[in-house]
Amino acid sequence: MGRIIAIANQKGGVGKTTTCISLGVGLARKKKRVLLIDFDPQGNSTQSLGYNPDMLEVTVSDVLDRVIEKDYTIANDYGIIHSQEGIDILPANIELATMEMKLLAVYIGREKILDKYIQMISDNYDYILLDCKPSLDIITLNALTAADSVLIPVQAQFYSVKGLEQLLNTINQVVTGGLNTRLTIEGILLTLANPQTNNFKEIKKVVEGAYGQHINVYHTHIPRAVTAEEAPASGKSIYLYDGTGKVAAAYEQFTQEFIKEA
Ligand SMILES: Nc1ncnc2c1ncn2[C@@H]1O[C@H](COP(=O)(O)OP(=O)(O)OP(=O)(O)O)[C@@H](O)[C@H]1O
Ligand SMILES: [Mg+2]
Repeated sequence: MGRIIAIANQKGGVGKTTTCISLGVGLARKKKRVLLIDFDPQGNSTQSLGYNPDMLEVTVSDVLDRVIEKDYTIANDYGIIHSQEGIDILPANIELATMEMKLLAVYIGREKILDKYIQMISDNYDYILLDCKPSLDIITLNALTAADSVLIPVQAQFYSVKGLEQLLNTINQVVTGGLNTRLTIEGILLTLANPQTNNFKEIKKVVEGAYGQHINVYHTHIPRAVTAEEAPASGKSIYLYDGTGKVAAAYEQFTQEFIKEA
């Protein structure tokens, strides 16, 4: 059974998608079997790996539709793309936005639709990474219900730290409310960092001071670099786009730390 990790933060643009792809490809380069589920109607993971979200016949919404219809005969590779970078991806596009209404209309078990699907395919993978959207709606709740743990990218910036409380509260409610009692926090990863600045050192201290006793704050942080900003448009991961750069090196180091901590 694969380990299921939701990469979540309701704050937008903090590096969820970049971390999902870079960790996923990083794990695949270590011969792990990885499935990335794009769980965001923006389809950023899908696009960043080189696929046009608007041209796809089957996406994660179709998979959810079938589970909602109680069709549990979904083939192992239904909708799954085998990317050239060694990971599988279940893509998403704007159709996932209409899924919110459909999920809300499910009478019982609306939070468990993704979980039911993942149970069917998880034996095929070592890791299943869920790239969440920047909100804490019923779609993200499905990811938190399906996951073993949550990996939280946090932008190294003063305001990001404040938003963490809301996410941690939601995670706590998922556990104590019985939706997913096995859910744990994988760790906090500081992203988009300017490591030379005093501000970064200050923020790292604040995060470690506020959460470090209970939550794993990774030693590795991801520095900001122009190439990481450019990579998504190229349809390549940072390893292919700028393999010798500092962001590729940081994600490589993070992948190692992640495997050790897991
Ligand atoms: N280390 C980095 N250095 C520079 N730019 C980065 C870095 N990491 C991510 N970015 C850029 O910052 C933007 C936001 O990153 P990303 O899409 O990974 O965040 P996100 O949390 O998934 O966003 P959303 O909440 O919209 O899903 C993107 O344009 C991305 O290319
Ligand atoms: Mg994203």
